Amino acid sequence: MASLGVAVIGTGFMGKCHAMAWSHVRAVFGGETDIRLEVLCDTNEGMTKQRAGEAGFTRAETDWRRLLDDPRIDIVSITTPNNLHREMAIAFLGTGKHVWCEKPMALTLEDAEAMAAAAEMSEAKTLLGYNYIRNPAITHARKLIQEGALGRIIHFRGQVDEDYQADENVPWSWRSRLETGGLGVLGDLTCHLVSFAHFLVGDVTEICADIDTVHKFRPVPGSNEKRAVENEDIAHAMVRFESGATGLLMASRAAHGRKNMIRIEVHGTKGMIAFDQERMNELQLYVADEPAAERGFKTILTGALHPPYGAFTPAPGHQLGFNELKVIECKHFLDCIENDIEAYVNFAEGLKIEKIIHGIAASAASRRWLDVR
Ligand SMILES: NC(=O)c1ccc[n+]([C@@H]2O[C@H](COP(=O)([O-])OP(=O)(O)OC[C@H]3O[C@@H](n4cnc5c(N)ncnc54)[C@H](O)[C@@H]3O)[C@@H](O)[C@H]2O)c1
Repeated sequence: MASLGVAVIGTGFMGKCHAMAWSHVRAVFGGETDIRLEVLCDTNEGMTKQRAGEAGFTRAETDWRRLLDDPRIDIVSITTPNNLHREMAIAFLGTGKHVWCEKPMALTLEDAEAMAAAAEMSEAKTLLGYNYIRNPAITHARKLIQEGALGRIIHFRGQVDEDYQADENVPWSWRSRLETGGLGVLGDLTCHLVSFAHFLVGDVTEICADIDTVHKFRPVPGSNEKRAVENEDIAHAMVRFESGATGLLMASRAAHGRKNMIRIEVHGTKGMIAFDQERMNELQLYVADEPAAERGFKTILTGALHPPYGAFTPAPGHQLGFNELKVIECKHFLDCIENDIEAYVNFAEGLKIEKIIHGIAASAASRRWLDVR
């Protein structure tokens, strides 16, 4: 029986999500491969030991460098803040370990290019955490598009909104600084939107964008000082796809009331698909060749006919959640490792997304259309 040892670095929001994915993937999807939860790594020893025990890891570790040459580890999940992705990913790829790294790839385009180059040099597989495109509703949307149900694809609209920076009193943090947080909403949210656009419509090649920082100063915790926010709260862009289709991308981290709105529309010459992550088990479909009196949007509620929903439950409409997307993503990575094929979104594909989000910032600064190929 094949056996793969896993290390998860980081025990925060995404660390827990990856740990759950690794511990559930075989229970959900079956298979012969023994998945060994070898190490959970974070900086606080007591907390890491506790969480390692809770999540079923054999060991806890505080120094990720000690994992580099550990022969018991085959795969590493990197779920640390963005400023650590480059160093960690390149080091693990250098010792032949498969790397599943959270998005965005890194702080700068140069960092992302270095990561993609390291992946190219390595035999190991890479995957970035673009979990939303793993949704059975989105897989079905892609199938409908590829089968021609919408005709020729002419337009993509994407809107991603959250409200975690909407309040002007949210304290200044590492997220507000270019050196520690990198891009603002572009790195946090817009990159997910681009993953939808690429998965459903193909590569974006040209952009013309604008960005804005709504709250330019934020209070520093424990003092009367206010410090400058160095990255953007809002970003929007007109885009052109390689296919010739046009599109719009809009993102805000200062949108009161929106918790995880990722709303996309794919328009074709014969119909249209709409989806919103806040109602992630539903796909809206409009097909223009139905009898005129009955034409209208229909809501498709995902179920076992929309793989891999059925791996979780045979009952339609019982609904999947965010953490299940990570289990599906994990299964995809395992399949790619076991069958020696490239994962999607690997570091090469991820670099294309980075070129777009950094391109949006550059286009906004120069106030011009940019070619982002
Ligand atoms: N795919 C998604 O939908 C999604 C959602 C949220 C966050 N993310 C991404 O996940 C990453 C982490 O975000 P988060 O929200 O989980 O952050 P978080 O702050 O909740 O967790 C980060 C963890 O990394 C640990 N850490 C920091 N330095 C470390 C080091 N040197 N060694 C080991 N551990 C270290 C921290 O102690 C913390 O526990 C970011 O890149 C973020 O963009 C992705």
